Amino acid sequence: MRKCLFKMNNKQLLKKIEFIKEEQNKNWKNLIYGKGDLYQSYDELNIKGKRNTKKRIKQYELKKYLHESFDILDIGCNCGFIDLQISNLVFSVEGVEINPYLVKIGNKVKEHLNIKNVNFHNKSFEDFKGDGVYDVIFSFASDEVADGLSNLSYEDYIKKIVSLLNREKYLFYES
Ligand SMILES: C[S@@+](CC[C@H](N)C(=O)[O-])C[C@H]1O[C@@H](n2cnc3c(N)ncnc32)[C@H](O)[C@@H]1O
Repeated sequence: MRKCLFKMNNKQLLKKIEFIKEEQNKNWKNLIYGKGDLYQSYDELNIKGKRNTKKRIKQYELKKYLHESFDILDIGCNCGFIDLQISNLVFSVEGVEINPYLVKIGNKVKEHLNIKNVNFHNKSFEDFKGDGVYDVIFSFASDEVADGLSNLSYEDYIKKIVSLLNREKYLFYES
């Protein structure tokens, strides 16, 4: 586990996350993922989530394919816990997430862990321009998602991915 160099201790971090979650539950109209617990967990920080991030990283065999020179794009990154947990294996990660509360949580955890090579963009994938091409793109449960916030057809979604992907590298896709 990474060293926490921060003023906030784990308990304070959990409290802060709880507060942001409450704000989200009050204000985010399109909430269907993680109404109770968050969608993603972060075991080392004792953050509960409906899906276990560590297990998913193992199941998807991400470590086998990632490289320290790789730039990663994660579409619909949620709290970005997958990104933060693989950040030590790659050069950079860009996470795109439409829900501002989840981005806030991701940034709090990122700060807490003093991670410097991950950036979260609070915007829709439709509006995301990207910075060149990426070696790896994650599309985990993010195509035509049920919250109705995407206005890209499936074909356009894939076309946009293709335009952003280094052809010799990898798309990780979970439908
Ligand atoms: C089912 S969750 C999957 C989250 C994450 N990819 C994972 O597998 O752990 C879908 C996520 O996509 C986000 N999302 C929905 N529509 C989006 C859009 N148009 N652009 C970016 N993110 C979007 C949601 O807010 C949610 O966090």
